[in-house]
Amino acid sequence: MLSAYNFEEIRTPVLEQTALFARSVGAETDIVSKEMYTFEDRDHQLLTLRPEATASVVRAYIERGLSNEGRIQKLYYLGPMFRRERPQKGRYRQFYQIGAEVLGSDHPLIDAETLEMLMLLLERLGLKQSSLLLNSVGCSRCRPEYVKLLRRELEPVKSRMCADCQRRIETNPLRVLDCKVEADQPIIGRLPSILDHLCPECRQHFETVTSELKRRGIPYEITVRLVRGLDYYTRTTFEIIHGELGAQNALLGGGRYDGLSEILGGAPTPGFGFAIGEDRLALAVEAAHSLEAQTRPDAYIAWMGESALAPALELARSLRREGFRVEIGFEPVKLKKMLGQASRLRARFAIIMGEEELASGRLQVKDMEAGQQEQVAPELIGPYLWERLKA
Ligand code: HAM
Repeated sequence: MLSAYNFEEIRTPVLEQTALFARSVGAETDIVSKEMYTFEDRDHQLLTLRPEATASVVRAYIERGLSNEGRIQKLYYLGPMFRRERPQKGRYRQFYQIGAEVLGSDHPLIDAETLEMLMLLLERLGLKQSSLLLNSVGCSRCRPEYVKLLRRELEPVKSRMCADCQRRIETNPLRVLDCKVEADQPIIGRLPSILDHLCPECRQHFETVTSELKRRGIPYEITVRLVRGLDYYTRTTFEIIHGELGAQNALLGGGRYDGLSEILGGAPTPGFGFAIGEDRLALAVEAAHSLEAQTRPDAYIAWMGESALAPALELARSLRREGFRVEIGFEPVKLKKMLGQASRLRARFAIIMGEEELASGRLQVKDMEAGQQEQVAPELIGPYLWERLKA
């Protein structure tokens, strides 16, 4: 998928100077203030096991003079990251990311195209229960005004908020939007939305990203509180969450970081990227497929009338022999009840066999997803199912 969108691999070291992350991810973020594995080497240099790779990619871009190549750089990376978080399902101290960065353009089509690639990847992996959450966090021109406004709104209610928020109101009020403490939610819910305070350029940028997503048929949810746990973002931020993951439901996250290169001492270089949590991706794929495999018969045989039972059992036996996953009920109940049973089992097709069908030699095969029904000769049911299940 990454090669279809013309990305090339970049490999950066697992160890970096601590200052790189403090400057880029932000000294006040949870990652830098609590989660990094940092130590002094023999030369008394402070080194850190990388908690993420965007900062390293931008550092390498600057040091290697990649901007001189005069083209947009599309770089991907794979590898371990380290954060000292409390381990639980989907959250590990050494975890793996598949990430990519597009450096050298602030065009909103880059955002839309990269999101398209991610949605296509998840679709190919069969991760249907994925939702794209989208926001814009503005730029260095409009965000400071919004942050001032947030601080003004938060000051009077500060004493009622959790200790972390009280500190964040001083250091980085945007982080308050990220707070998960239940008691703080009514206050946070009433705060002004950043989307109402974007400058005209950021608003235009965001409108182009969303209209491009619509044009490509990619559904998204605007989530005004999505500020993400890293400070380098400007404009578009996003996460894709997945229903099967439980508490740690962010499958991947990313966004635009148009000011990061300058923060790290490079020339102005807009950037956009993402990182997929590979461990979570594996959990989601496993859950999606086992759910599918466990609970989805290919066909449910709905028979009516005592005389249909024997041919129905025979059909079940021959389809099972051909390798299909087939279910059949043994009680003589009404068709509606049988179809209800088929849909509860999430059967892909229902094969309807009544006296009428047996007399005409044509069975009804109902596609339980599309709702359409077709007549098929009993001996052709196998190839018929095979063709459609393959599609
Ligand atoms: P992030 O949201 O911190 O973004 O991490 C991206 C993904 O890594 C998360 O959505 C999650 O799936 C996974 N992840 C994070 N922490 C853990 C953990 N402790 N255990 C397992 N999985 C985890 C970044 O790292 C940015 N560098 C993404 C980016 C690239 N933004 C722009 N370009």
